[in-house]
Amino acid sequence: MLVSPMPGPGGVPEHLETVCAEIDQPPPSVTRPAVMPIVASAPFVVDSLETLDDLYEGRAEGFVYSRGGNPNQVVLERLVARLEGAEAGLAAASGMGAIAAALMTGLKAGDRIVASDSLYGPTATLLLGPLAALGVRAVFADLSDSASAERALAEPASIVVVETISNPLLRLVDLPALARLAHAVGAMLVVDNTFATPYHCRPIEFGADVVVHSATKYLGGHSDVTNGVLVGTEEFVSQARATMSAFGAPASPFDCWLTVRGIKTLALRMERSSANAAAVAAYLTGAGQQIVGVYYPGLPSAPQAALACRLLRNGFGAMVSFELAGGEAAASTFVRALRRIRLVPSLGDVSTTLSHPSKTSHRGLGEATREATGIRPGLLRLSVGIEHLDDLIADLELGLAAV
Ligand SMILES: Cc1ncc(COP(=O)(O)O)c(C=O)c1O
Repeated sequence: MLVSPMPGPGGVPEHLETVCAEIDQPPPSVTRPAVMPIVASAPFVVDSLETLDDLYEGRAEGFVYSRGGNPNQVVLERLVARLEGAEAGLAAASGMGAIAAALMTGLKAGDRIVASDSLYGPTATLLLGPLAALGVRAVFADLSDSASAERALAEPASIVVVETISNPLLRLVDLPALARLAHAVGAMLVVDNTFATPYHCRPIEFGADVVVHSATKYLGGHSDVTNGVLVGTEEFVSQARATMSAFGAPASPFDCWLTVRGIKTLALRMERSSANAAAVAAYLTGAGQQIVGVYYPGLPSAPQAALACRLLRNGFGAMVSFELAGGEAAASTFVRALRRIRLVPSLGDVSTTLSHPSKTSHRGLGEATREATGIRPGLLRLSVGIEHLDDLIADLELGLAAV
């Protein structure tokens, strides 16, 4: 049953149902918000059919539908592109979304992809599962070793994929040398810069073509957002945007807004976290025989210390991995003994967290592959936060005393 009309603006009659259902409008204001608002609108109002043509043909700037582009996505994309020294960026629903978009854009059936054998587990799974099913052949190699990189790139490939600082063994690759090898066989170099962030490394300066991020980690910085970004040339990013729109996994406006807010303190957080991490790595190195290996590129004794000084600036990152002699039992005892540092299968938060790669990020690889790549059951991965160093060391002492 319809409700009878009521007087509307200017006395013109209108009905309650209509007012309830109407598209709302922002109130007039001679000021504007000091921070970018969250634009939660899925579609956008277009003033004419001609404007629609202009938008689709690139003659006018603006938004039509948030799966293909939204103001909060664009603010994040431009910010990360600027931080990475890239022409353009694309926000995704997660880091894996950004990696998948980058790889799906650069690969077709029959292509060969050369991947580092020290990669975030699900990236390897993407290559071995869905991309293999589409006819892409993945070759894994130790790309931190120049002879093995040369062997892997002796024949043509479409993409080479590595992490600036690898998960979880924090291995580096000689990016300029790898970019030369990749380009010589016609491959694009895709670098996952999640662990380093542009605060420590800008891979494009070293020859990378595409840089991807799990913005869930340091860019967001507070473990409250799942988000990803890829950056590269205008041409590549516009192809990736079409791929992403077709697969339907863009980033939500709220997540992009949170990541942009996180990035405001990126430099401050990284400065403190990486200084803490360097001190924690030094502490663990001399802490006792319970520890059989400490992985941190900034340690003077690290096998890749010289390369780390060439590639990384402002410190060496906030991730530290270490292996306990007593394997899984020791790792379990260590985790239980901690009072502050939580077991959290992620990284990049302001608080220090701990992860057990063989039970989480690298679980899907299987025991044989994990053993072969040095991800043993005694390995723990610390994401060092911004707390006071003394409190962190005191907590690690509790853990070590227990094993
Ligand atoms: C190096 C690296 N790349 C990518 C990802 C995937 O990111 P997300 O969880 O946002 O999909 C992760 C997640 O831990 C990661 O560590």
